[in-house]
Amino acid sequence: MAVSIKSEREIELMRQAGKILAKVHEELGKAIVPGISTLEIDRLGEKLIREYDCIPNFLNYHGYPASVCVSVNEEVVHGIPNKNRILKEGDIVSLDAGLIYKGYHSDAARTHYVGKVAPEVQKLVEETRNSFFEGIKMARAGNHLYDISNAIDAYISRFGYGIVRDLVGHGIGTELHEDPQIPNFRQKRRGLKLQPGMTLAIEPMINMGRADVEWLSDDWTVVAQDGLPSAHYENTILITEGEPEILTML
Ligand code: MF3
Ligand code: CO
Repeated sequence: MAVSIKSEREIELMRQAGKILAKVHEELGKAIVPGISTLEIDRLGEKLIREYDCIPNFLNYHGYPASVCVSVNEEVVHGIPNKNRILKEGDIVSLDAGLIYKGYHSDAARTHYVGKVAPEVQKLVEETRNSFFEGIKMARAGNHLYDISNAIDAYISRFGYGIVRDLVGHGIGTELHEDPQIPNFRQKRRGLKLQPGMTLAIEPMINMGRADVEWLSDDWTVVAQDGLPSAHYENTILITEGEPEILTML
């Protein structure tokens, strides 16, 4: 499948979809306190998305049973919300959410601290976020797709963290997952040329220990094999003639 180039009208709708999702994330972030269940977070996320007259795009996606992926500590992504999973002081929690506004998708993830978190775990979360911003420095027309991948890898490698390889970023637009796939680790080729009007979800998933992951028996929850914490940070961005535009930030 070819990579879609969005028209000015489509870009405006993607901007709206992104802004609304940024607001949803802001509200969700405020709700993260010790004692909240991962299901309560999902319920709040779904309620907020629907209040903005949007549709939660994760809900029922290939059978996924919730609107927000809530992944705690060693869970990398796609944690399934559960009323019995209660967040406690010292945990980290990754919230991945997305929505559809007038047919256009947005997708973003944030990793939050639950109360006070160990300094080395804070560092993992901060550097994961930093690696996204290093990556998008390369997200400019005329550069190539894997310049982004290589920049993320080059930045994160110095910390000895494991870059998850089994899951990648992606194009986004009238579908949640469009071409191209966007790895967060070093590629030997430069890949396709970036063009204005491409909208991409860039999402480093970084493990404090080794990169290896496995799937729990629910067939969704991805965990770090070594049981060490993992962080996730994602935004939907637009390639322009100049600086990339981050659509899912306020
Ligand atoms: N946000 C995920 C991604 O970035 C998609 C989650 S799909 C779901 O690609 F089904 F797990 F919700
Ligand atoms: Co995504």
